[in-house]
Amino acid sequence: MSARQDWIAARGTPLHGRLRVPGDKSVSHRAVMLGALAEGVTRVSGFLEGEDTRATARVFERLGVRIDTPSASERIVHGVGLHGLRGSGEALDCGNAGTGMRLLAGALAGQGFDSVLIGDESLSKRPMRRVTEPLAAMGARIDSADGGLPPLRIHGGSALQGIDYTLPVASAQVKSALLLAGLYARGETVVREPHPTRDYTERMLAAFGWPIEFAPGYARLSGGHALRATDVAVPADFSSAAFFLVAASVVPGSELLLEAVGMNPRRTGLLAALRLMGADIREQNPREEGGEPVADLLVRHAPLHGIEVPVALVPDMIDEFPALFVAAACAQGRSTIAGAAELRVKESDRIATMAQGLRNLGAQIDETPDGAIIVGGALRGGTVDSHGDHRIAMSFAVAAQCASGEVRIGDVANVATSFPGFETLARASGLELHPALGLQTASDM
Ligand code: S3P
Repeated sequence: MSARQDWIAARGTPLHGRLRVPGDKSVSHRAVMLGALAEGVTRVSGFLEGEDTRATARVFERLGVRIDTPSASERIVHGVGLHGLRGSGEALDCGNAGTGMRLLAGALAGQGFDSVLIGDESLSKRPMRRVTEPLAAMGARIDSADGGLPPLRIHGGSALQGIDYTLPVASAQVKSALLLAGLYARGETVVREPHPTRDYTERMLAAFGWPIEFAPGYARLSGGHALRATDVAVPADFSSAAFFLVAASVVPGSELLLEAVGMNPRRTGLLAALRLMGADIREQNPREEGGEPVADLLVRHAPLHGIEVPVALVPDMIDEFPALFVAAACAQGRSTIAGAAELRVKESDRIATMAQGLRNLGAQIDETPDGAIIVGGALRGGTVDSHGDHRIAMSFAVAAQCASGEVRIGDVANVATSFPGFETLARASGLELHPALGLQTASDM
């Protein structure tokens, strides 16, 4: 019986004001990783103080990298160079982070020492063959638990060879793992994707001075160069802004400004989907910060209607489906989501978890193997379980804004993995959200 945290959420007031959500999770992981493997000192600003990204920083500290925290959201990474990591006698804990574990598998496959990567209960159920198989084809030796699950034991001292690999599913994590292994490999590593995914690893490798050729859906590099430290300014995480984009769209009278949101086109699929549904979201002051496009997003309430979500948008909004399910449940008419089977292997089975929770709130929703059909309408109060999935918990806090009664959201502690301070920001902008009183245990629900 583990102690857990629950929230009580209810319809609040219209969302108002301006806010800046925390730093991008994907960029923060990569900034620490490349900073650690670089020669020289990398200063990271806007670093996400989430449990996932802090776990990655702790792993590198265990591997002998000094990382200073001069102030919150800042890190100074004293790089040790490509061959300067030292093995740790202890297992390296990636926490809840699939990105941490998969990218580390790539970076550690070419080291001279053995490593063991472990994760929490959710991460321990997530598929790792998608990285271990192509890494094995490069010459890595990695043992996993039954079914290709964590923990991963990575044997050091393997000579890696470059690979020309076409990903079977669009995955920035797999692409990035292979590129990081490719830094240590003889010859060329080429990664081809069925649909372009976020290209932060490629952009950041270039910023750290590693020769790399890349275009949407394609990346190519060869081993044998060096990474040179550089400063990284992390943009605000579009995936965290997403909850507020949906909340302000569905609550009448809302007008909210989200400042300096990362607008990498491989991340902003939800914006396109919400606009197709009738959302009123304006991009203001578009600019570049730290080599990434950012903009302030002004979102005003607008009546939403159901849509067939274009399958081509799926990879560009892969983390935003829990929020989109809520938008669809609060919209007029029917929405269809397809081509998103990957949602079943995220921090939870996001199709099943969202379907169950929305059904508990009276929504009409049918699951399909790779998506769902949702008919929007009135939601009522009720109890939902986030299954320890941060994005599910935050999405139901938004769903409660359209519900006629209180929503109890179970198992929300993992919100801190990606969005520390969500509760405070949500309340400040108008949401009614507070911790449920009394300690809950998993057996209570
Ligand atoms: C991420 C890639 C995506 C995304 C995850 C972060 C990354 O995962 O869902 O939250 O930082 O590379 P997949 O590579 O499994 O699609």
